[in-house]
Amino acid sequence: MKLLKLIANLGYGSRREVLALFADGRITDAKGEVLYGDDRLPASGVLIDGQVLDPLPGVVIALNKPCGYTCSTRDPSRLVFDLLPARFRLRSPALSTVGRLDRDTSGLLLLTDDGQLLHRIISPRAQVSKTYEATLAEDLRGDEAELFASGSLMLESETTPLAPARLITLGPRHVQLVVSEGRYHQVRRMFAATGNAVTRLQRIAIGDLRLAELDLPEGEWRVLEAAALARVFGARD
Ligand code: URA
Repeated sequence: MKLLKLIANLGYGSRREVLALFADGRITDAKGEVLYGDDRLPASGVLIDGQVLDPLPGVVIALNKPCGYTCSTRDPSRLVFDLLPARFRLRSPALSTVGRLDRDTSGLLLLTDDGQLLHRIISPRAQVSKTYEATLAEDLRGDEAELFASGSLMLESETTPLAPARLITLGPRHVQLVVSEGRYHQVRRMFAATGNAVTRLQRIAIGDLRLAELDLPEGEWRVLEAAALARVFGARD
């Protein structure tokens, strides 16, 4: 692909704006030689204002989402995209969140521009687990682990029961829950079905990829390399 198209598709500007970057000599190779829009170099050798290019299409980003941000591209509130460089919203193909976290849920959120990969992660058939840590308003009543594991819990206004989920009790009001689906407000609604309420919710893992191992402060993101991505599907190093 010609550099002009490649760089415009990465969101650095419209074709006209990127042409101006070339004309101003701001796009160079590693030796500082000025490049041209119809050059076809490997992207790894291209610098804009001395900085390497953003990751090429096929990227997966891990974000440690804080509470208060919405997984949407159009919403009057703060968006998870506000935590990424502004040009990431102009990329083609577009970056999408892999599933959603509620505005008031924090934790591990993936974003990708690879539609097939996104589908592989969120498809119920893929059985990629999601692990949440929750604080509850009331003490557990005692039968929740059995109920959630039963595969027969029906959430309000749904027509099919939830797949079995695993509850790990850390304290009377402190749990981890491992689910294989991604239904709307699923964790909050599961506890609501037991007469309880979730007061704090964090996603701590997707598949075997744990937020803690990424060492990402809240609000920060990083491109996920292949080995880390494989852990989403359960592969170990
Ligand atoms: N379940 C919820 O209730 N909320 C989330 O954000 C994720 C899972």
